[in-house]
Amino acid sequence: MPGRVLCVGLCCIDIVQICKEFPGEDSDQRSIECQWRRGGNASNNCTVLSLLGAECSFFGNVPDNLFWKFAKENFDFYNIDTSHCVIYDGSYEFPLSTVIVNSQNGSRTIIHSNKNLPDVRADDFSKVDLSQFSWIHIEGRKSEELHKILKIAQNHASCIETTVSVELEKKRDGLLELAQYASVIFISKDFAAHHGWLDMCAAIEGMKQHVQKGATIICPWGDLGAVAYRSDVGLVRSPSYPPPEVVDTLGAGDTFIAATIFSLLKNTSLQQAIDFGCRTAGAKVGGKGFDVIK
Ligand code: ADP
Ligand code: FRU
Repeated sequence: MPGRVLCVGLCCIDIVQICKEFPGEDSDQRSIECQWRRGGNASNNCTVLSLLGAECSFFGNVPDNLFWKFAKENFDFYNIDTSHCVIYDGSYEFPLSTVIVNSQNGSRTIIHSNKNLPDVRADDFSKVDLSQFSWIHIEGRKSEELHKILKIAQNHASCIETTVSVELEKKRDGLLELAQYASVIFISKDFAAHHGWLDMCAAIEGMKQHVQKGATIICPWGDLGAVAYRSDVGLVRSPSYPPPEVVDTLGAGDTFIAATIFSLLKNTSLQQAIDFGCRTAGAKVGGKGFDVIK
């Protein structure tokens, strides 16, 4: 079994409406199915890692209310440790996403709300005993605190054999600067587009000047698969592995990242790791939720 993974970032509740067709504005339709799911990138990374057989912990801020009760039970069900989470009182709102999944092509449209829950704080992160983790994965946010958190993780990794990775996903300024702290950097196609990199190879080229020497850059790109780069290996690619029918793409990127980390932890080659990432994400998009990858 690979070493323990810590995922730092968001836990939210996804209210997923699976619809016959994508709704028009001011229209009215009944969904095929509605599910509550525990979501958020770092939280989803943990679900996939756990399904693949890795031990993992989620670290994030969570308000203590009914939504947390739901999320906590679900974390427990998947055997994901949440003991390091910072519990805020019930006056803070739990982050919520309304997600429309179009059953015709599996596309997911997310409307996210996060009213007043603060981002994770470095003081809280510094209390976590990092020595138990072989890999620390951090979801990128534009926040001074996250710079401090990444520095703490980077300092830790320089003393003990631990890998620090960061995900740069959102179309926002202020994320690129986080790449300097990590030895593995995952960038999404949305993030790439925000920087004017129009395909996955352009994204790798664009990122090279923003990362540490020897860092690994990994870029999944929907049904085109993924590429990765490290100076000693060069550029490697994986195709996507489309399922017979694309049913639900919510969390495809989170699945890819978790499966790639899982593979790298087992010391596979970079090419094998992204191939496993794409195979696992391909299986995921073929069914609802994450249990399809088991
Ligand atoms: P995100 O969910 O962050 O938008 P991507 O769309 O880049 O992430 O997808 C991540 C990975 O999921 C891709 O590299 C690919 O392996 C897989 N994937 C996504 N969409 C499809 C699809 N339609 N068919 C097959 N694989 C897919
Ligand atoms: C999927 C996801 C959802 C969540 C949203 C937050 O990648 O983590 O579970 O609602 O993104 O941005």
